[in-house]
Amino acid sequence: MRDGGEEKSDSVRKQKAILGISAFYHDSAAALVVDGEIVAAAQEERFTRVKHDHRFPDRAIDYCLREGGLSAEDLDHVVFYDKPLLKFDRLLETYLAFSPGGLRSFLSAMPLWLKTKLHLPREIRRHLGGRYRRAIAFTGHHEAHAASAFFPSPFDEAAILTVDGVGEWDTATIGHGMGNRIRLLRALHFPHSLGLLYSAFTYFTGFKVNSGEYKLMGLAPYGEPRYVDLILGKLVDLKEDGSLAMDMRYFNYCQGLTMTGPAFDRLFGGPPRRPEAMITQREMDIAASIQAVTEEAVLRMGRTARELTGCDRLCLAGGVALNCVANGKLLRSGIFEDVWVQPAAGDAGGALGAALFVQHQLLRTPRPTNGSDTMRGSLLGPDFGDDAVRHFLDGRSIPYGRYSEEGRLLDAVADAMAAGQVVGWFHGRMEFGPRALGARSIIGDPRIESMQSTMNLRIKYRESFRPFAPCVLIEDVGRYFDLDRESPYMLMVAEVRKELRCQLTDEQRAAMRDPDLRKRVNVKRSEIPAVTHVDMSARVQTVDERRHGRFYRLMRAFKEKTGCGVIINTSFNIRGEPIVCTPEDAYRCFMATEMDMLVLENCVLRRGEQPRQDDVTRKRYIESFHLD
Ligand SMILES: [Fe+2]
Repeated sequence: MRDGGEEKSDSVRKQKAILGISAFYHDSAAALVVDGEIVAAAQEERFTRVKHDHRFPDRAIDYCLREGGLSAEDLDHVVFYDKPLLKFDRLLETYLAFSPGGLRSFLSAMPLWLKTKLHLPREIRRHLGGRYRRAIAFTGHHEAHAASAFFPSPFDEAAILTVDGVGEWDTATIGHGMGNRIRLLRALHFPHSLGLLYSAFTYFTGFKVNSGEYKLMGLAPYGEPRYVDLILGKLVDLKEDGSLAMDMRYFNYCQGLTMTGPAFDRLFGGPPRRPEAMITQREMDIAASIQAVTEEAVLRMGRTARELTGCDRLCLAGGVALNCVANGKLLRSGIFEDVWVQPAAGDAGGALGAALFVQHQLLRTPRPTNGSDTMRGSLLGPDFGDDAVRHFLDGRSIPYGRYSEEGRLLDAVADAMAAGQVVGWFHGRMEFGPRALGARSIIGDPRIESMQSTMNLRIKYRESFRPFAPCVLIEDVGRYFDLDRESPYMLMVAEVRKELRCQLTDEQRAAMRDPDLRKRVNVKRSEIPAVTHVDMSARVQTVDERRHGRFYRLMRAFKEKTGCGVIINTSFNIRGEPIVCTPEDAYRCFMATEMDMLVLENCVLRRGEQPRQDDVTRKRYIESFHLD
């Protein structure tokens, strides 16, 4: 972590320091913007080790202040990412509309509202130790999303689309951004919500709402979209302009503690899949169907955004903007010449959006653009450095080797990867947002057929059907994928190029229809099988030297040895665990899995040199995280 020395602190104090906070719903976070520059941003879960932690982000705030060399009294503005009174209004009105049906859900929400959410200024001051005495600002929830989408984007002017579950009342907005201003032009209101519709299907297919949406998207290519007409005929009236009207008789989220009700079950031939039960063809087909509906809705919203603003560039944020398959379709549709997605598109990014909203919209600070985004690769979290790593390893008498020269380090790691080893890679500042982008990643050789199931089952302890994402050297992106531009935040899905795909034998074709997803996963579909999904798609991250530094050079070293410009990149965690933050988190995760090598800055730990961890400790570690 950077040391906030006296000299730096004094100079920073003359500037405008703005702290943005998101909390109390899902994935709390803090972000610090100083004079328009994004200095730090992090999710609370990384520090508390509770996935999607929604509590007040004390530790994330502490980190941001430390990174900026500031204390709470140095802040000029503190801003919260939504308007709690408006949200309360929605809760109350919804309750009254469904009364007395929603009494249980209403009562379960009340304690937190009465104790904390309705007294946010007081609560925020208390958490800042009483040292912040200026005003506390509140932005609209979708204003924060829109600000997070446009202000850090590379565009001078753009259409803005925000789509999520729900903020105060809004569930999607279309806006326009120009220079240092944004303006929301149109909104869709609760309970009609594309995000909640997707979450209802996430729930129904047995995944966890607000975290399993990604799994549903990953499952979609295994299915046939045979429920599309049913969804559009019964559940949702999708209008030409992308707005939607849902038939609330099928849903339960206004009044109940579940997302769907008995009428929904009848429509889809039975009750929801129980979590962890076997995934059947019904779930795969449902996943394919809701994914198709979502893509169509996003395309229509995109078209409307283009018509309303006349802009040929689009910025996206909100939880639905993490649907990288829909993003890829939107990009390829040609509605816009370019699309930029905020990497922390979910509510964590609201903290950053709120801070940038104050900086530009309220304080009118100019926003020069130079064709590149200002997210710094989203590497906005803590950096520990080699000294802290050595201090930790020496303090615990952990065996390791150390390379003082980067070239030799990268050579050793690339050799291990080329030999089929799975490597835990920890370097530099931690990522902000849900994806690991090469700072806290588990990496391996994508050419190995069994790598997908090995990494899923022996390293991540997660469902075997889930695909891994490829990192590709920016100069090689067109060689491997049908993508003609950068995708540094892993938010665009593109197809693997035709010439790299394999002709399937009859036996393989039969395996691709096997009810057991593991059989389908193991069919070699391309020259980079471990990162090629069953429909030939891949969730691409391009890696360039400016943003990714050492990680880029590692990939170059791997390519020099193998000729392959692609590696597998998955987040450094096991199932249910937040991505690792500190060297100690990384070591614990390494020891509980079957990773072969751990790279902590310049230090390298090899599996064979480590003491064997007893099964009880390992099991306890794995079970300490709730299944997501
Ligand atoms: Fe949101």
